Amino acid sequence: MNKKIKVKNSGLIKLQSFNDFPDGNLVIGESNRNVPFVIKRFYFINNLFNKKSHRGHHAHKKLEQIIFCINGSFVLKLDDGKNKQRILMDNPHYGVRLGPKLWHTMEKFSADCVILVLADDYYQESDYLRNYDEFIKYLNKK
Ligand code: TYD
Repeated sequence: MNKKIKVKNSGLIKLQSFNDFPDGNLVIGESNRNVPFVIKRFYFINNLFNKKSHRGHHAHKKLEQIIFCINGSFVLKLDDGKNKQRILMDNPHYGVRLGPKLWHTMEKFSADCVILVLADDYYQESDYLRNYDEFIKYLNKK
C-alpha cells in the first residue's frame, strides 16, 4: 500500500490492532477517535469474482466516508479534479478517507476481496455526482 496521499479531501486512517497469534487479529475503529466522524451507516462489498468489475465512478457533495479493504486487495483510484492517485488497497489496518468532492473508482479486485465502507450519513442519491463533467462543474462553482 502506498502510504502517501496526494489528493485533496483524503488521508490515511490507521486502525488499532492486536495480533492475537495464533488466534487471529483484532482490528478496531471507534467513532471520533481513529474514525474522524460519528458512523451513521456502513456497507460492505463482497463476491467480487468478476475480474472486470468496476465500482464507484462518482464523487459526493458532502458525504464523508472511509474505505477499507478488509480481505484481499483492489486498486482505488482517486481524482480531486487536479491530482490523480492510484492506491493499492491490500492492508486491512489502513483505511482511506473519501471526503467530499473526490472522484473515486475501484477496480482490479482479488476474488477474495471484501471492502468495508464507513459513512457519516445515510444514503442520499442527491449527494452523488455521478457524471465526471458534472463533478468538474461542481468543483468550479465553489
Ligand atoms: P453505488 O454507491 O453507486 O455503489 P459503488 O460506488 O460501490 O459502485 O451504489 C450502488 C447502488 O446501491 C445504487 O443504486 C444506490 C444503492 N445504494 C443504497 O441504496 N444505499 C447505500 O447505502 C449505497 C452505498 C448504495
